[in-house]
Amino acid sequence: MIALATFTTLWVADSLHAQQPAEGTPERATSGAPQGAKCLTCHEAMNPALAQEWHDSAHGQKGINCYDCHKANKNDPGAFEHNGSMIHVVVSPKDCGGCHQKEVDQQKGSHHAKAGEILASPR
Ligand code: HEC
Ligand code: HEC
Ligand code: HEC
Repeated sequence: MIALATFTTLWVADSLHAQQPAEGTPERATSGAPQGAKCLTCHEAMNPALAQEWHDSAHGQKGINCYDCHKANKNDPGAFEHNGSMIHVVVSPKDCGGCHQKEVDQQKGSHHAKAGEILASPR
């Protein structure tokens, strides 16, 4: 069961980092937080496949970086200090909402909505 949960998380993360831009996408906030630039100094070498998928993704192309999705406030559940930034591993729909409020609203009916499921919802 733990193995399955881990696999699912990896799969969700992979498909998210690999997400391609859709045609006719409406405009959104397009600049990444400056703090996110340094995440790649380590993670590019550590997670080359993930970093490459991110580079190719809609987010990577628009400069939306690791920190934009993984940033946290220090009181958020699971938040931890990581090389000078407060982050969390488990990204929730709330983290997407600043830039994708419409998609997050569409998911409100489900208490179990995960960030990855927003990707799978019709747009
Ligand atoms: C100085 C190098 C370095 C920098 C800079 C760095 N990381 Fe990491 N990161 C690591 C290492 C090493 C690990 C694996 C060991 C660990 O969990 O600390 C890791 C692990 C992680 C994990 C997984 C943690 C877990 O428990 O599974 C996430 C998510 C992450 N980093 C995100 C980020 C983000 C976002 C940034 C930028 C704000 C960032 N990292 C900046 C080195 C770095
Ligand atoms: C569009 C938002 C988004 C961006 C940008 C993003 N991530 Fe993630 N990341 C997620 C989501 C969602 C998950 C899945 C975790 C969960 O919520 O269950 C995840 C999972 C992870 C994990 C843990 C699982 C794994 O695959 O090992 C690491 C480590 C990670 N991300 C690092 C990064 C790094 C490094 C970057 C920048 C190159 C990055 N992320 C950019 C949303 C994002
Ligand atoms: C800092 C702003 C920002 C954050 C945070 C963010 N995104 Fe995005 N997202 C963008 C931008 C910019 C694009 C590029 C396409 C565009 O211009 O609309 C994009 C594109 C996408 C796309 C592909 C284009 C589309 O609409 O079909 C999906 C799917 C997506 N984001 C889902 C997510 C999810 C899920 C999260 C949270 C885990 C997230 N995003 C977090 C800004 C953001």
